[in-house]
Amino acid sequence: MFVCICNAITDRQIQETVAAGASTLGDLQAQLGVATCCGCCSDLASSFLNSTSQNQITAGINVQS
Ligand code: FES
Repeated sequence: MFVCICNAITDRQIQETVAAGASTLGDLQAQLGVATCCGCCSDLASSFLNSTSQNQITAGINVQS
């Protein structure tokens, strides 16, 4: 799914960037260019950032149990 139409950035690209170490919207902006044009996608991009981080935390807990 496209998150940023202006820059053709998908949720998968955001998830991969977060997995590679991005932790803030600023990181995503610097690495992908998401939310650097009209800015309409910034809230959605942030929500994917948060949900991806939550999934990684959950996955970490599952690995340890
Ligand atoms: S939709 Fe992402 S900057 Fe416009």
